[in-house]
Amino acid sequence: MLTKLTEHKVAAEKMVLSVTDQFHLLTENTQLSFAVTDQGNLFTTYFGKKLGAIDLSYVLKDVNRASYLADTYGIKNYKVEQLPLTYPSFGTTDLNQPAVHIEYGDDGSRISDFRYISHRYLVEKPALEGLPSTHAIGKVTSLEITLLDAVKNVKLYLTICAFEAYDTFTQSIRLENLSNAALTIDRLMSTHLMFLKDKFEMISLTGAWGREAYVQRKALTQGFQGVSSARGASGHGQNPFVALVDPNTTQNTGEAYGFNLIYSGNFVAGCEVDMHQNTRVQLGINPFDFSWTLEPTESFTTPEVVMTFADKGLNQMSQQFHQFYTDCLVPENFAKKERPVLLNNWEATYFDFDREKLLALADKAAYVGAELFVLDDGWYGRRDDITSGLGDWYPNEEKLGGTLDELISEVQQKGLQFGIWFEPEMICEDSELFRQHPDWMMKVPERTPQIIRSQYVLDLTLTEVQEYLTSIISTLLEKYDISYVKWDMNRNFSDIYSTKLSKNRQKELAHRYILALYHILDEITKAHPDVLFESCAGGGGRFDPGMLAYTNQIWASDNTDAIARLATQEGLSYAYPSVTVSGHVSAAPNHQIGRITSLDTRTAVAQNGNFGYELNLSALTESELTEIKADVSRYKTYRKTLQFGQHTRLEVDNPQNEHAWQKSDDKLVIVTMIQTLVKPNTVAKRLRLLDLDDKVNYQDESGKIYTANELMSIGLPVEKPTHDYFAKVYVLTKV
Ligand code: DGJ
Repeated sequence: MLTKLTEHKVAAEKMVLSVTDQFHLLTENTQLSFAVTDQGNLFTTYFGKKLGAIDLSYVLKDVNRASYLADTYGIKNYKVEQLPLTYPSFGTTDLNQPAVHIEYGDDGSRISDFRYISHRYLVEKPALEGLPSTHAIGKVTSLEITLLDAVKNVKLYLTICAFEAYDTFTQSIRLENLSNAALTIDRLMSTHLMFLKDKFEMISLTGAWGREAYVQRKALTQGFQGVSSARGASGHGQNPFVALVDPNTTQNTGEAYGFNLIYSGNFVAGCEVDMHQNTRVQLGINPFDFSWTLEPTESFTTPEVVMTFADKGLNQMSQQFHQFYTDCLVPENFAKKERPVLLNNWEATYFDFDREKLLALADKAAYVGAELFVLDDGWYGRRDDITSGLGDWYPNEEKLGGTLDELISEVQQKGLQFGIWFEPEMICEDSELFRQHPDWMMKVPERTPQIIRSQYVLDLTLTEVQEYLTSIISTLLEKYDISYVKWDMNRNFSDIYSTKLSKNRQKELAHRYILALYHILDEITKAHPDVLFESCAGGGGRFDPGMLAYTNQIWASDNTDAIARLATQEGLSYAYPSVTVSGHVSAAPNHQIGRITSLDTRTAVAQNGNFGYELNLSALTESELTEIKADVSRYKTYRKTLQFGQHTRLEVDNPQNEHAWQKSDDKLVIVTMIQTLVKPNTVAKRLRLLDLDDKVNYQDESGKIYTANELMSIGLPVEKPTHDYFAKVYVLTKV
């Protein structure tokens, strides 16, 4: 018994290994480093603050031997399970969740052993075929490392790109089948990153319809934790984003690692804390209900993952994402263009509109200074409620009281651009499209398909469906003078089956759907570069970097209540730039939750980024319209800063009740403070601002001048709330 215990006791012996090569990808302030051992295993030796191209092989060598782990390849004390393998495969003695899991068609085995064979630096940042990906701005170092499973002759390429000025890395994996037999990919993560510690907290963005992207932060514990989607979309309930932070990390101090997957379908984003207190982060396509058959000579590429490290808190991490997405991800034609103030008719009329109502609304929209009139759901086919029409993308001239052209020109005569809503991916049973093509939707032939919101999901993988959608939408955009498109998607998948896929390929469908969606979006958006695209999925049901690669902005939530939106907007600000997040001033009482808030508060929250209105302006009083007119004019004055200024979440005393953020650029600092519930007998507070230029002074709207240090150390005096849902916006000008 005693002998046994001694045998299993953790010994002081170190691992015996020799490192043959090391790679360091450096950005301005951070670095990602790799090492290869003489056995050809690839390890990630470091991710964090920049250290330089130094020898980091000791990270692998000074690890104490843990008991009960296998000696890899029979080499004494060479235990890869306790080392930070860059891309562990099932079967090579690392018995945790692997990054790659393949079933080989020739013998049914699932063991792989990918070892380093070569690397090369690429001259440019490669785009991913068929998938959205980032593009290079400034210096980008792209390293491609090739690993080979020599037994099966399958290659794995890791492409890691370091965006120097952004302190951000991207990674994608390509698997190439060079064998003579087909293989099945059951799991192929976009990243696997192992930290030799477990003292982290994980932040994810979770919620549901109407309360998307609420920040959830909790300490890691041993085992799996994270978020995932199997809904066919990234989903309202979870976002393909996670951050790992030190327990002490705040908005402005401490270390934070941010990860975001450029993908809009089923994903996993999370980590496993193993039995030796290591943390393994993984993001990629959700392996649940996924597999992919790879024939000889074929390749499979994973979505790209974005990874960023900040040592000055969560604001810095978010700002790195914001800058990176603005410059390197969203479509360039609108990336830095100020977005128009819009009026959307959805909450003003829902389906109940006619030409007269629309034009009356447009009149008022023009009066208050809006620049774009958006005609939402109900303009096409026969669509007076949710039960019919989806798929019939031709204008209902009876309802519109004339041609769409006539409506557009009347709207334009009022000085407004015209925008329109589509929900291309769906079909109603009561539609011409369904009557002609009942076989175009996803369903299992002998089962009754589930119906959600009276609609089914089209099987986008069918070429004829892709051609129909691309051509019908393109024709409309060519025929009519449309400046903006809202691309909606209002249900998740339930009947995942395609009649065109063989039975062993059905688990490819959810991913093939997303590839087809990207293909359609790519065709349409590239053919119409002057049209501003906004995506939507019943609000924020597909708010992810994949959609942002095609559509410059996304509708954040169907819940337009200003107070409920605070948490959604705050959550989204962890990764996504303000200008990508659309927010509208809607009616009071709010249509979703009945809350009554002032116009001031609704405006302050909606103008956090991309601003508009979604209420019946025709029902407002003269004085309300005058107030809105002044708000729009003020928004336009500060629009550049509000849409593109650096977004900083400010620390408040009671985050449950108070919310404050700052937008700043080279001219202005705009601070918004909201207090949800007024408290009796309190004193006015000061709000400490951040990251101001300490070489200049700042003047508030009353003319008072502060030094930057005063504002950062003592703080900006803020008004004492006089009622619930109190909002105040402060504009400071650099002098
Ligand atoms: C859901 C969207 O989120 C709403 O803004 C609106 O466009 C409706 N769909 C229309 O059906």
